[in-house]
Amino acid sequence: MNPAELRDLAADIAREAGELALRRRSEGVSLAATKSTLADIVTEADREVEDLIRGRLQRERPGDGFLGEESGSAASDSGLTWVVDPIDGTVNYASGMPTYSVSIAVVSGDPVYERWQGIAGAVCAPALGELYTAARGEGAWLGGQRLHVSEAGPAGALLGTGFGYDPATHDGDLANVRRVMRMARDLRRIGSAAVDLAYVAAGRLDGFFERGLNPWDFAAGSVLVAEAGGVLTRLDVDAARPLVIAGSPAVHARMLELLAERD
Ligand code: IPD
Ligand code: CA
Repeated sequence: MNPAELRDLAADIAREAGELALRRRSEGVSLAATKSTLADIVTEADREVEDLIRGRLQRERPGDGFLGEESGSAASDSGLTWVVDPIDGTVNYASGMPTYSVSIAVVSGDPVYERWQGIAGAVCAPALGELYTAARGEGAWLGGQRLHVSEAGPAGALLGTGFGYDPATHDGDLANVRRVMRMARDLRRIGSAAVDLAYVAAGRLDGFFERGLNPWDFAAGSVLVAEAGGVLTRLDVDAARPLVIAGSPAVHARMLELLAERD
């Protein structure tokens, strides 16, 4: 399969998974467990949606690897690995907010940032009625509309960010907010990194940064941003919580400059 065919498969599975998430949400959400901290929750729907995605990939791409948030990993025989977050923005999902997404990427190489090459990705936000797709060399799309990253306006850049689940990390996150506010017109905390990155690709947000993201939070988004003309890199100032930074080349460069500053 070429990148466009892999994208179409990712999109088809993301659409089906998004419909399941939406249906389960309308039936009421049941909390399955907490994970790293009390704030880090998983619902029955997260697990069921990941099962659906994993099952379809096993049937349609049996030699490919898998790395998912809820069910762990399987090694690849083909050199390709699917990096999957069944519901990104689980707290929004459980709280009844529409900004959550299914995030599916396929990468070549080890499914580890900087060793992977993003091939295709799909981010489906079913409660927003939006499906974002991208394939290497084929552009980034919202439905039939081609996407392009945006530049900061005269008042500054509209930026997005997120915070980790561990309260002990909040001070470091807030210090980064203080650093970037010098270039910002305003800041959004949407609650789904995959949606944030789709918004960067769409030029709705001019830039995004967050520490401590997992591969499944940003794998599909990284393909969207690159194919929309943007740049996404990771800055390892704090090795335990590397910082993802994304935006147009100019917005990204300015964010990198401010976020690399130490007090
Ligand atoms: C979370 C969301 C959130 C971000 C967290 C992520 P999850 O993913 O992307 O926006 O701030 O860092 O863990 O737990 O909802 O899949
Ligand atoms: Ca998740």
